[in-house]
Amino acid sequence: MNTLKTPICDLLNIEYPILQAGMGGVAFGPLAAAVSKAGGLGTIAAISPTPERVEQEIILARSLTDKPICVDIGFPLRAPKEKSDIELPELPGPLKQLHQEIEALGVEIKSADDQAMSIEDARTKLEICFRHGVEVIACALGTPKWVVEACHARGVKVISIVGRASHAQTAIRNGTDIVVVQGTEGGGHTGDIGLITLLAEVLEFSTVPVVAAGGIVNGSQIAGVLTQGAQGVWVGTRFIGSQESSVGPNYKQSLVEAENDSTIRSLLFDGLYVRQLQNRFTEVWEGHEAELQPYPIQRIVIAPSRFAAAAADLKDHQALPAGQGSGLIRDLPPAGELLHRLVDETVEALRKAQQRIQLKVA
Ligand SMILES: Cc1cc2nc3c(=O)[nH]c(=O)nc-3n(C[C@H](O)[C@H](O)[C@H](O)COP(=O)(O)O)c2cc1C
Repeated sequence: MNTLKTPICDLLNIEYPILQAGMGGVAFGPLAAAVSKAGGLGTIAAISPTPERVEQEIILARSLTDKPICVDIGFPLRAPKEKSDIELPELPGPLKQLHQEIEALGVEIKSADDQAMSIEDARTKLEICFRHGVEVIACALGTPKWVVEACHARGVKVISIVGRASHAQTAIRNGTDIVVVQGTEGGGHTGDIGLITLLAEVLEFSTVPVVAAGGIVNGSQIAGVLTQGAQGVWVGTRFIGSQESSVGPNYKQSLVEAENDSTIRSLLFDGLYVRQLQNRFTEVWEGHEAELQPYPIQRIVIAPSRFAAAAADLKDHQALPAGQGSGLIRDLPPAGELLHRLVDETVEALRKAQQRIQLKVA
């Protein structure tokens, strides 16, 4: 195996500076363990699952590897304190349509409880991580100071995912150990600034290591961001297309078939901007944007159809969050093999860079 190291490898006690992103519904114990075992940092996504499920997944990952793991928890500023604070509207028209179409395919839509919206829920999950000695916590949707303090008091490292320079400043001020800047290319929640610009902007002031995310699926891209000054990468969509990710075969196949313009960034998933592949799930909202609800109401009203379609792995009717890099995904290897491939491609790209672009510097 090639060597590829940056200072975050020592900080996180990992071999390669490749971090598998937290991804709701995708990244559970098996994927996180496979990536960590192979020398990267594997992450369990803990926003949507119940606290009990999060605990089971941590125990599962621990049974598969003794390497450090990360758990990704959401601390959204706009979250109500309690779920009971939320009043729900009548089902928006596009969702009624989606329900009809899903049920016509023989899939039952049950009421679904989405765990993502209360700070109490996030706090409970954090305590579970502490109990199981999870080494790294990733903060999605905001990095409160109390979270950093609680982690540091236990020797736990904190990673903050941001999509804007101002959010990076806040996370650094609140004490984060690493900032992950996610460009608009990324899958899932994403801002509107391209990675190459956002990374340059945050590198100008960051006092902590910066990791790049958004659209990264191969080693030439990793070589590019390392050269720009990133100390590592946080890779999401590429790992959906691995054997250990927890989505169905249709979701994975959609990535292999995707082109780089197959994704859109819209508010329909949960009221915040999310990049996803276009299909019937996104199409039903076209022309009905006025019926979109604010976060977290949109997330709650969409949950029953989203979970039912995902459980049945319906290709056209399930939400398929994915980054622009999906157009470059052509196979579905085991995650550990994929991680090693990314390392080898990066080393190769760095070695060949001068030769390939016939660069002359003096
Ligand atoms: C299916 C999916 C689910 C995601 N869920 C989460 C999540 O629960 N928490 C989070 O911090 N980020 C989430 N993200 C964003 C990722 O952490 C990461 O920043 C993004 O995937 C990077 O872009 P890429 O997918 O192009 O590699 C999700 C992304 C995807 C594709």
